Amino acid sequence: MRILSGVQPSGNLHIGNFFGAIRQFVALQNDRANEGYYFVADLHAMTTIKSGAELRENSFKVAADYIALDLDPERSVLYRQSDVAEVPELAWMLSTVTPMGLLQRGHSYKDKVSKGITPTHGLFAYPVLMAADILIVRADKVPVGRDQKQHLEMTRNIAAAFNQTYGEPILKVPEELILPEVAVVPGIDGQKMSKSYGNTLEIFAPEGELRKRVMSIITDSTPVSEPKPTRGNTLYALLKLFTPAAQWPETKRLFTEGGTGYGEMKKRLLGLILDTFGEARRRREELDRDRAYVEEVLRRGRERAGKVIGQVMAHCRRVCGVG
Ligand code: ADP
Ligand code: TRP
Repeated sequence: MRILSGVQPSGNLHIGNFFGAIRQFVALQNDRANEGYYFVADLHAMTTIKSGAELRENSFKVAADYIALDLDPERSVLYRQSDVAEVPELAWMLSTVTPMGLLQRGHSYKDKVSKGITPTHGLFAYPVLMAADILIVRADKVPVGRDQKQHLEMTRNIAAAFNQTYGEPILKVPEELILPEVAVVPGIDGQKMSKSYGNTLEIFAPEGELRKRVMSIITDSTPVSEPKPTRGNTLYALLKLFTPAAQWPETKRLFTEGGTGYGEMKKRLLGLILDTFGEARRRREELDRDRAYVEEVLRRGRERAGKVIGQVMAHCRRVCGVG
């Protein structure tokens, strides 16, 4: 099974991205029957980041984060979207068969515009570029968060329109892989953790910063001696994510029995986060000192992806009568 997914380099990765996305990529990679293609969606991030220096640095960071978090450059193909010049070429071909109405129904465009992002043609055509990412490697399955469901439906529609127009099954119609058990990870203010809400716990933040963020997780004013509520309790939800199953009954008791203050629980959470990501954080620091290695991984990834991309593009150009 060929698996493909991408993350926009629009900010630092947080634990919501880990539990909601990267952890699934790693699990899929570890099944030998799968072939993983994971890329840094820098062309997509251009719709929101308008500083070249910032985008270039963020793209490096996401690539290094992928590697540090166990996406193995030997087993999976890791690359940068903008290194594949054929992606925007295919996006153009697809745009000529994409009905305006399909894009006009896009939720993501409307949401982004309502959040203050400039309504450019690129933002409007974002789903066509995403379809090109997926179709150009003939992906079977695309693991994504629920928010991307409509983009995958659009990809399927666009692939079908292209095949129909040119009368051949040229493009493979992919399926989304949305894991229902992936809970929404709450941020330090109790809302969904998101880069755009400024409520994240970043996986690779310096320890001091991470401590400060953990200590500022919102809690209620239950006195130390009393049992603490568990429903809707952000600290409880985060501790549950990080506590090994065997230790969970003991941790849960800290809430249900009373006698333990939130400050102590926060220290426990910080310890667990540092343990969980300890190895990844160490590797991530190494990668910062060996940027050439990360660049080499991306170069090789682009090269490895080249074979299938070359075949798909040759077929598309032939039927379209271009190139
Ligand atoms: P953000 O909201 O921080 O900008 P993205 O939209 O870049 O995050 O999401 C990248 C991936 O991480 C997606 O697959 C998304 O579903 C997942 N993800 C993001 N935030 C969370 C969260 N709080 N809980 C679970 N998964 C999340
Ligand atoms: N739109 C996705 C997001 O915001 C990122 C993305 C771009 C993507 N191209 C993709 C995801 C292709 C999966 C497949 O999270």
